[in-house]
Amino acid sequence: MSQITVPLLDLKAQYNTLRDEIEPVVRRVIEDQWFIMGPEVKSLEEEIAAYTGVRHAIGCASGTDAILLACMALGIGPGDEVIVPTYTFFATAGSVSRLGATPVFADIDPVTYNMDIEHTRRLAADCKNLKAIMPVHLFGQACDMAAWTALGEELGVPVIEDAAQAIGTKDSDGVMTGNRGAAGCFSFFPSKNLGCFGDGGLVTTNDDEIADKINILRLHGSRPKYYHAIVGLNSRLDALQAAVLRVKLRHLESWHDARNANADTYDRLFAEAGATTNETPIPEDWADHDEPVIRTPKRPTDGKSRHVFNQYVIRVPAPLRDPLREHLKANNIGNEVYYPVPLHLQQCFADLGGKPGDLPHAEHAAAETIALPIYPELTDEQQRYVAETVVSFVRANARAAAGV
Ligand SMILES: Cc1ncc(COP(=O)(O)O)c(C=O)c1O
Repeated sequence: MSQITVPLLDLKAQYNTLRDEIEPVVRRVIEDQWFIMGPEVKSLEEEIAAYTGVRHAIGCASGTDAILLACMALGIGPGDEVIVPTYTFFATAGSVSRLGATPVFADIDPVTYNMDIEHTRRLAADCKNLKAIMPVHLFGQACDMAAWTALGEELGVPVIEDAAQAIGTKDSDGVMTGNRGAAGCFSFFPSKNLGCFGDGGLVTTNDDEIADKINILRLHGSRPKYYHAIVGLNSRLDALQAAVLRVKLRHLESWHDARNANADTYDRLFAEAGATTNETPIPEDWADHDEPVIRTPKRPTDGKSRHVFNQYVIRVPAPLRDPLREHLKANNIGNEVYYPVPLHLQQCFADLGGKPGDLPHAEHAAAETIALPIYPELTDEQQRYVAETVVSFVRANARAAAGV
């Protein structure tokens, strides 16, 4: 067996390059003993507002809370409906549900994995109390925000951007995520391109009223202190996390570049082995193909968009996916499935009546996709090892997996 190890994510490798910058700022916060709100949080908010080009950036305790706060600020509550993709992290729909509102699940575009706009339009026609639509910039690839904001206007509801995986992502007009919706919701979970040392999140908005409301909501709805006109929650970004994030923000562009360069390398290695992009569906007779049936992510080619590759997700025929995962694990290659069960089929949403077959593009993606290591510090040797291990396994096992 090879001696090469490739974790899905290597945060120690990142920390090794940042130790000398991070330790002094952490010490500074400890010396100051100012842990809640305060100058570090304010500076980070200003820096992220400048980075994303949005008027307001408001820190909070997690990406989940960012969605919750945005929904609360927009007045979403019991009896309301919010259209969300079924193929996303749970928090997109969980936050809606926690407010007593109903998530209405839309299918995805099978190529980009982002929420399907035409399906959303059809679902909206059947909604009685639609309050918002929430596209997710999945894996770090932008939704078509010009189209989504136009649909929001057509339906008369705000667009909430779940940009948890997509800080720095640009859409086809070259605009960064978090700019065009009523609110943009970001996560600083450690595995994100900009990750902190625990949980953290942030909401962006160009709307002064929404910003003001979120500022109050994150402090138990109080203004002034101890006077509560509305009920909020305790959801603040820690000063320690803000200090760490301020250091990391300075490196974010170079990490986006490195992730894109790694994606280029994978694209090339898989293409050389005969793989095509996810624009070509997996054929029914996949087992009879000479080349390994692997689909790589479709990359934006318009020159203005920017994928930031929070995840590099390939697609293989469903019967090969789980055996491939096991094979990668046995060869010390980290991998993950984002996400194995679409949300309309989750037990907690059973009362909404979702059934297998309802949202086929998402269900196929859930059965066929696999995320490979894409972190910035990955070496060429590691990438070659990952690609060779995937290709040789798919080549050797396709016919057996298909039972021919
Ligand atoms: C698409 C999406 N939405 C929301 C979240 C929630 O963020 P957090 O884990 O910071 O609460 C995540 C994070 O994993 C996510 O990937």
